[in-house]
Amino acid sequence: MKPPNHPMDRSGGRACGPAAVVAAVVTAVTAVAVGLAMPAQAASTLKASAEAKGRYFGTALTRGDLGISAEVNLAAAQFDMVTPGNEMKWDATESSRGSFNFGSGDQIVSFAQSHGMRVRGHTLVWHNQLPSWVSSLPLNQVQSAMENHITNEATHYKGKVYSWDVVNEPYNEDGTLRQDVFYKAMGADYIANALRAAHAADPNAKLYINDYNIEGTNAKSNALYSLAQSLVSRGVPLHGIGFESHFIVGQVPSSLQANMQRFANLGLDVAITELDDRIPMPADSSELQQQGTDYGKVVSACMAVSRCVGVSQWGVDDGHTWIPGTFPGYGAPMMWDSGYQPKPAYTAALNALDSGPGTSPSPTPPVSPSPSVSPSPTPPVSPSPWVSPSPTPPVTGSCSATLTTVNSWPGGFQSEVTVRAGGSAVDGWTVKWTWPGGQTFSSLWNGTQSVSGSSVTVRNAAYNGSIAAGASTTFGFTANGTAATPTLTCTSP
Ligand code: G3I
Repeated sequence: MKPPNHPMDRSGGRACGPAAVVAAVVTAVTAVAVGLAMPAQAASTLKASAEAKGRYFGTALTRGDLGISAEVNLAAAQFDMVTPGNEMKWDATESSRGSFNFGSGDQIVSFAQSHGMRVRGHTLVWHNQLPSWVSSLPLNQVQSAMENHITNEATHYKGKVYSWDVVNEPYNEDGTLRQDVFYKAMGADYIANALRAAHAADPNAKLYINDYNIEGTNAKSNALYSLAQSLVSRGVPLHGIGFESHFIVGQVPSSLQANMQRFANLGLDVAITELDDRIPMPADSSELQQQGTDYGKVVSACMAVSRCVGVSQWGVDDGHTWIPGTFPGYGAPMMWDSGYQPKPAYTAALNALDSGPGTSPSPTPPVSPSPSVSPSPTPPVSPSPWVSPSPTPPVTGSCSATLTTVNSWPGGFQSEVTVRAGGSAVDGWTVKWTWPGGQTFSSLWNGTQSVSGSSVTVRNAAYNGSIAAGASTTFGFTANGTAATPTLTCTSP
C-alpha cells in the first residue's frame, strides 16, 4: 500500500475552495505582494527575508502559470528561485530520441532572469514523465541514452541554473531502489553515472538527489543517507539533497531538522524543494492555523541547519496546484488562497525566516516587488534586488568590479559584486581576486567560477556578458569563512 503522502497516489479529485483567515498585517503584505504602493517598512517579502539570512525562497512555475498575471506578479514579488513544474522533464525535452526541445524550459528561465530569480533545474533522470521510447530501449542502450540526455540538457542550461535535481525520486518506501529502466540497466550505479554526466556538462551547477517521504528519519531516508555517504566518500559529484516536503496538515515529521542536519553533516547542501501542506476540504480556520504552524516548522528547520540553502513551495496559490487532482478530497496546500490572499502559512513562514539565526543586512532592505534592472541590453539577474545602492566608483579601464557583503553569519557570508562597464560597452568580463583567509565558495550565481588555491576567477554567465557603456550587472555568491573584502580586478577581452 502506498503511504498517505505519496505524491503520485491518484484516485480522483475534488476542487478545493478558498478559505483563509486574513489578519490586517497580512492584508498589508498582500498589497506589497501584488505590487501596490506601500511604505517600504510595511512588510518584508519571503525573498527579502530569506536573502537577509543567506537563503532563497522559491516556487514552482509552469509555462501555463506564466500566462496568469496575478499569479506571476505574486511570484515575482515574493520569490527569488523558480523550479519549472514540468518543462525540463524528459518527456518535455526529448520526447523522441535525439530530438531536443528546450522551448518551454527556456521560457521559464527567461521569466526568472528578467525578474531577478534563479532556477532550480528539475529534473534529468526520473522514472515518471519519461517517454516510452526510453523505457522500451534494450537495456544495453539505456546508459548512453541517459548520459546523452543529461549532457544535452545540462549543456543547454549551463550557467543558467543554480542546481539540478539530477536524479528524482529513486527510492521505494522501504528503502530499496525503484526497479526502473535505469536501475535495470545499470543497477545502483546509474545514480553515480548520472551525477558524473551532469557535472561534466555543467561543473558549476549544484547537483541534487531529490525525493519525497525522506523528510523524517525512516527506512527511505536511511537508505538515501547510506547512498549519499557512499557517493561522497567515492568523490561522486553530489552536492545536495532535496526534501520535497509534500505534507498533510499536522503531519510534519518531528525529525525533519535532525534528519536534514545528518545529511548536511556529510558536507552536502540540503533544501526544501516542493513544499505544500494539504488539508481535507473544506478547510476550517483551525486547520489553516495548523497549516501555519506546519509552514513555520518547516522554514524554522531550514533556518536551523546552516547548510539548508532555501525553501521552495510547489506552486504559488491554492487555485493552481496539483493536489486536488491527485489527492481526492484534499486541497488548500499553499501560502496563498485561490484569490491570492495570504493565509496564516504565509505569515508563519515570514516570521520563521525573520526569527531564524543569522544577521540581517543593514540598512533594512526596502521592499521591492521588482528587481532593479540596469540598462544593459540583456537584463541582468540580481537575486538581491534589495541591496542598497553604493556610490558608483569611477571606472578606470574597460570595467570595474565592486564587492558588497550583504550578509554574514557564523562561518559564512553572502556578497554581491557589481560589474560596471567603462566608457565603452563590454562583451564578456572576468573578475579576479585572492581570498585572504581560506574562504571557499558554497554557491555562486550569475557567473562561472574557477578557483585555484586562494585565487578566484569569475567570468560572466552566458546571459550577462554584454554590458552597455556605463551600465552594470551583478553576480553573487555565498562563501564559507569570514566575510572578506579583497581587491577585485575586472578585465574585458
Ligand atoms: O502534457 C499533457 C497534455 O498534453 C494533456 O492534454 C494533459 C491531459 O491531462 O496532460 C498533460 O500532462 C500533465 C502534465 O502534468 C503537464 O501538465 C499530466 O497529465 C500531469 O500528470 C502532470 O502532472 C505533473 C506531475 O508532476 C506528474 O508527475 C504536475 O504538473 C507536477 O506538478 C508534478 O510535479 C512533481 C515533481 O515533478 C516531482 N515531485 C512530485 C511532484 C508532484 O507530483
